[in-house]
Amino acid sequence: MKKTIEDFNLKNKRLLIRVDFNVPMKDGKITDDNRIKESLKTIEYALHNEAKIILLSHLGRVKEESDLEKTDLRPVATRLSELLDKKVTFVESTRGPIVEAAIQNMQSGDIILLQNTRYEDLYGKLESTNDEELGRYWASLGDIFINDAFGTSHRAHASNVGIASHLPSGLGFLVEKEVNQLDIALHHEKHPYTIILGGAKVSDKVGVIQSLGEKADYILIGGAMAYTFLKAKGVDVKASLVDTESLPFCEAMLEKYKDKIVLPIDSVNAKEIAEKDVHTCEIDAFDENDIGLDIGPKTVQRFKEYLQKSELVVWNGTLGYAELEAFSYGTKGILEILKDIDAIKIIGGGDTAASVISFGYKEYMTHISTGGGASLELLEGKKLPGIEIIEDKDE
Ligand code: 3PG
Repeated sequence: MKKTIEDFNLKNKRLLIRVDFNVPMKDGKITDDNRIKESLKTIEYALHNEAKIILLSHLGRVKEESDLEKTDLRPVATRLSELLDKKVTFVESTRGPIVEAAIQNMQSGDIILLQNTRYEDLYGKLESTNDEELGRYWASLGDIFINDAFGTSHRAHASNVGIASHLPSGLGFLVEKEVNQLDIALHHEKHPYTIILGGAKVSDKVGVIQSLGEKADYILIGGAMAYTFLKAKGVDVKASLVDTESLPFCEAMLEKYKDKIVLPIDSVNAKEIAEKDVHTCEIDAFDENDIGLDIGPKTVQRFKEYLQKSELVVWNGTLGYAELEAFSYGTKGILEILKDIDAIKIIGGGDTAASVISFGYKEYMTHISTGGGASLELLEGKKLPGIEIIEDKDE
């Protein structure tokens, strides 16, 4: 068992908390603050326990100078301050005298957010390569390190693994909850157990199928990846996206799990990825040049039969090109079904989580992960470096 924030006396301590404030932004405005909201429990606990709170997060990717402005974390500090109804001091640097002076002047209960940790990637990728000196430097700014950035825990970066190598460390409440909930998907004996898989590429889901396929009773497949499975089954999917290299894998899975894998029986198609000439057809009746972009209503009904009898549902990957309304009905249809069923419902992060939240179904799910890549890797049965590095509880 890993230590958690509750295992430390935080009073007057400089508490470094790695959070994942990598939120979507448009024109300098945050378009979805879910990740900030999900981090509040840990920050409020640290406040209540009179720590000096120093937050670190990345935002986007920083490859060249022109990336700096759009990845500035200041809007996040403003939003966090509104949510906490408390001053959050934003420090525009990631290191140096300004950072050190700001920390030196902190009182218990103060909160500081440092600039985007990936500003350190600009010259030499120091954050992303877990530069030893950078991790040691950040660690020197604190007394205790808490990892509450689940979405980044599959990365071994200076701001998580680097710092944790030099300080007493524990998990925050968000990471603890994520690990416990995703563990249900891996180890809970609840049946029927249904996995819903979608998204663009089969290759992204190979690890999950290998890890959960045996345990699951049903594997419902939608999204663009379904067209590769259909092609492997001999269906003529015309101009749909097909992940050719994954065809042998799909053939093998269709054979191995022939009683588990459920594929679409109808499809919403267009001639290009646009809401133009949209039409629905049976799966074996694609027009010339049709691109399949969503599961059709008959497929939604078919999936419903399996979902209604399920006790545990794990979903990763949207079922159609849900950014465009015309191709969002499959995903919305499944959400409507999940809303009404009494099962444990675990949603992977990334696009699936964003759809569940933006379409208004958050409250009906048991758990919605805040990590895309991280939740996928956990479901694949992998260990996450940002969690592994954290100290174990004393026996
Ligand atoms: C995410 O959004 O999945 C995490 O914040 C990790 O971001 P990254 O893929 O840029 O490392």
